[in-house]
Amino acid sequence: MNILLLGSGGREHAFAWKIVNSPNCNQLFVAPGNAGTASIAKNISISPTDFKALAEFSVENQVDMIVVGPEEPLVKGVTDFFSNHPILRSLPVIGPSQAGAQLEGSKDFSKQFMEKYAIPTATYETFTKESFNEGITFIRKQSLPIVLKADGLAAGKGVLICQSYEEAEGSLKEMLLESKFGNASDKVVIEQFLKGIELSVFVATDGSHYKILPEAKDYKRIGEGDTGLNTGGMGAVSPVPFADADFIKKVEDRIVKPTIDGLKKENIPYVGFLFIGLMNDNGDPYVIEYNVRMGDPETEAVLPRIKSDFLGLLYAMGTAKLDSYRLEIASHTCTTVVLVAGGYPGEYEKGKKIEGLSRNKTDSNSIIFHAGTKVSELGEILTNGGRVLAITGVGKDITSALENAYSRASEICWEGIYYRRDIGQDVLNLIK
Ligand code: AMP
Ligand code: GLY
Repeated sequence: MNILLLGSGGREHAFAWKIVNSPNCNQLFVAPGNAGTASIAKNISISPTDFKALAEFSVENQVDMIVVGPEEPLVKGVTDFFSNHPILRSLPVIGPSQAGAQLEGSKDFSKQFMEKYAIPTATYETFTKESFNEGITFIRKQSLPIVLKADGLAAGKGVLICQSYEEAEGSLKEMLLESKFGNASDKVVIEQFLKGIELSVFVATDGSHYKILPEAKDYKRIGEGDTGLNTGGMGAVSPVPFADADFIKKVEDRIVKPTIDGLKKENIPYVGFLFIGLMNDNGDPYVIEYNVRMGDPETEAVLPRIKSDFLGLLYAMGTAKLDSYRLEIASHTCTTVVLVAGGYPGEYEKGKKIEGLSRNKTDSNSIIFHAGTKVSELGEILTNGGRVLAITGVGKDITSALENAYSRASEICWEGIYYRRDIGQDVLNLIK
């Protein structure tokens, strides 16, 4: 098969690494990719949101399947574009329709959906500029802290957890009346604060059937001890020890099944991944948010645990045959540490030369996934983004997986490199 993969992060390098290792992969193209995908597949310089150029490329290169990594092309309707295309309408696209992508693209839509299908989540109400005064009254009736969410995509910055009524009121004003997040905050969801421990559950679906993939825990803050600004994700651990079989069964019965059934009832085509951000409150799961793609860096910890053919999984999703796919998961632990540019998630420099990537000895205990990297004209690997590399350690438990990840990370350097040294420590403290 010829496959076209959209995206350029660590998630996409992990997808590419799995796909090229499948016996059924003929050629893999990545649009636009990074230095890591360039080393195992063919990068093409087309933007994931330039649907016309992607379609032309697919026709010319006999692409058999498209796999969408990030949310932006999905929210902009890439899947619908292909399913309405005169030549490419039967090409499998792994990623939901624009209507399905609203589960991530609109917090108000996802909350209404969860309410309609009785899926456990924080109680909420949605407000607009017109109902600003009602919003203020609503805030005054909540207990602290209060969670405010911009309805639309806001580059991971649209959620505010307010510790006082004054802060919540000020933030609501900025979002609704002063367009703090542009159009994304034309509507604001105000919701109850959920207590507990967070984790992410990943589901693959063909629209009718589903498979639950390994769960993971993500580390969102830049600083150790979960302090400082939010980032795209600084590390991940899979499996998560407190997500035992009982808990995952509750997630399946109360959240996964009603979500897949609800999408079907709404006639919303959904072939792709569903990432459910959850709060575990004393053993009961509550949905914090849906994402309509895999997580990054969670993918870098989850995919190395999938033993069965990953391209086979994607193809079964794209051809409505997921019920006959046998998913096999390895029992080992994966921990991912993200190496970032100095200054990230604020301003940072690009173009720093990365040293220490190659190793002479063969090593199956750690994997380097590239995120923001590129190859220079001289063939050097340079930093090209905030999150630069994601290093996954593989081990029999969290401690050994972390040792492997950190030992590999210590061999790598560039000017300004930073990473958290405490990935997985909270989980280790819980199981002590
Ligand atoms: P989101 O962008 O929806 O992932 O939210 C960012 C982060 O805010 C989540 O990962 C949670 O840590 C936190 N968060 C969002 N909603 C809630 C909530 N209702 N209660 C507690 N924490 C929340
Ligand atoms: N790591 C969180 C995300 O991918 O949204």
